[in-house]
Amino acid sequence: MKVYAHRGYSGKYPENTMLAFQKAAETGCDGIELDVQLTKDGKVVVIHDEAVDRTTAGTGLVKDYTYEELKKLDASKLFGGKYGFCPIPSFEEYCQWAADQDLVTNIEIKTGIYYYEGLEEKTLELVKKYGLEKKVFYSSFNHMSLIKVKELDPQAVCGALLEHCGIGNAGYYCKRFGLEAYHPGYKGLTEETVKGCRENGIQVNAWTINDMGTLEQLYEWGCDGAITNYPSVCKSWVDSRKNNG
Ligand code: G3P
Ligand code: MG
Repeated sequence: MKVYAHRGYSGKYPENTMLAFQKAAETGCDGIELDVQLTKDGKVVVIHDEAVDRTTAGTGLVKDYTYEELKKLDASKLFGGKYGFCPIPSFEEYCQWAADQDLVTNIEIKTGIYYYEGLEEKTLELVKKYGLEKKVFYSSFNHMSLIKVKELDPQAVCGALLEHCGIGNAGYYCKRFGLEAYHPGYKGLTEETVKGCRENGIQVNAWTINDMGTLEQLYEWGCDGAITNYPSVCKSWVDSRKNNG
């Protein structure tokens, strides 16, 4: 089972910042999950919420900020200054860094609330510019964004994101729409669903796995990936479990 750092090492460092990504890489985890959105002037940026209020001292929507304005906000608000100034990264800055890392990246296209015209194209252009095509996979709660990604690059690997309630017949659903993976919230996930995905050749990457009991259960069920805020402890557990059969 692969371990992916949710918004970077967000359990200990400010989410979706270069610091959280660097710290995730240091844990030896398999990959990083991050969220992308578009600024007012069309720059792809890495941030989870549609508004800046929760993670920065600023207020308002990402889509109403230019990149220059957004860069001035400190995204470490939840850590109360412990790590100094941590800017909201541009996705290009992330790609530049990721090009030299032995990591895969799960790019979550945040088009579930606002549909950002051109976000898929711009994201894929940057992935291509930095030669990351084989080191990324995409996910979105807006499955139309995944269809769009597939139109732009039929080789792109995509996972359908679902809230904890999941979707009936998930394996068939993903296969029918040409998606390679199912990304459910873990609470509604069952062994039967994992099995159904397997039978349809669909991978299962569940989120957000922050306790060992859930991690162990997913491992037993044969889940392909766990997306966690604590990549260090999850990676160590998976490695020791593998080594001990
Ligand atoms: O991609 C898994 C997870 O990130 C989905 O939920 O809200 O944390 O982006 P969210
Ligand atoms: Mg996400």
